[in-house]
Amino acid sequence: MNANLSEYITKYKAKIENEFDHYLRNLNMHSRLKESMLYSLEAGGKRLRPILMIASYEAYGQQVEKVLSSAIALEMIHTYSLIHDDLPAMDNDDLRRGKPTNHKMFDEATAILAGDALLTYSFEIIANDPLLTAEEKVNLIKMLASSSGPSGMVGGQFLDMEAENRPISLEEMERIHALKTGELVRTAILSGAMLGKATKEQLEHLTTFAYYLGLIFQVQDDILDVTGDEEKLGKPVGSDEDNQKSTYPKLLGIDGAIKQKETYAEKAKEALQKAGAASSALMDLTDYFSNRDH
Ligand code: IPE
Ligand code: IPE
Ligand code: MG
Ligand code: MG
Ligand code: MG
Repeated sequence: MNANLSEYITKYKAKIENEFDHYLRNLNMHSRLKESMLYSLEAGGKRLRPILMIASYEAYGQQVEKVLSSAIALEMIHTYSLIHDDLPAMDNDDLRRGKPTNHKMFDEATAILAGDALLTYSFEIIANDPLLTAEEKVNLIKMLASSSGPSGMVGGQFLDMEAENRPISLEEMERIHALKTGELVRTAILSGAMLGKATKEQLEHLTTFAYYLGLIFQVQDDILDVTGDEEKLGKPVGSDEDNQKSTYPKLLGIDGAIKQKETYAEKAKEALQKAGAASSALMDLTDYFSNRDH
């Protein structure tokens, strides 16, 4: 990773992680449920979606505080999706962010409810932010809800389960990846840029950029599930094979998956140029998404 990006990520990762306790501290709820929510939030994680949202905001706007609550909300939704993704009824994984998965540490019912709580609380956080206008709040909540809901991440997770144990085409796989992973990536980028007051035309190019970046992210996730290091990843290697998942390496081989990722990266960068954001952190983030080792 280049030094500037590394500094950028370190700075905003710390800013984001400082906020979780602040948002949960005063919630009136059972301590075990709160503990379970905080356990997964604070377990670690790369925080790439909030960082992507901040970078997209900064490509157009100034005062970064404006985007912080939405970035936290998005990370809460992402964390909820991971807690549920690991459940026995789904991927049945025991390790996440270098620690036992939520249902292993607590129990299944608590893990399900901690996920539900993170999802719903994320909307409340945005609704309560005094720095956002009423119109911005509605737009953000709409974008987060639709990208995480039935025609977004949840819909993609269903298709992912449904495609286990059977061969699928590249088109079908691209659709699954675009939904289960790409939609939250898209919302990170578009909501950040929307708050930064990007123009309609810039948002259109960013939509293309986001589509390819989401695919790059999941292709690399699939590759790391085969070639990655469990210690570095903080989650099991070989989970896709165990669950008979449809993945890029399975369909195209590792070399084919890498080639595909490079094609997506070219398209992503071309769109970023057109969006007038080629000199922002988004350019380096694209390379990082593609080449990360965890
Ligand atoms: C993992 O996401 C789930 C996918 C959508 C592929 P990340 O790789 O961003 O996981 P964390 O947040 O760093 O733990
Ligand atoms: C899950 O994809 C994407 C989500 C919406 C959580 P994976 O099942 O490949 O994610 P990992 O590999 O467990 O992180
Ligand atoms: Mg999964
Ligand atoms: Mg999984
Ligand atoms: Mg995976």
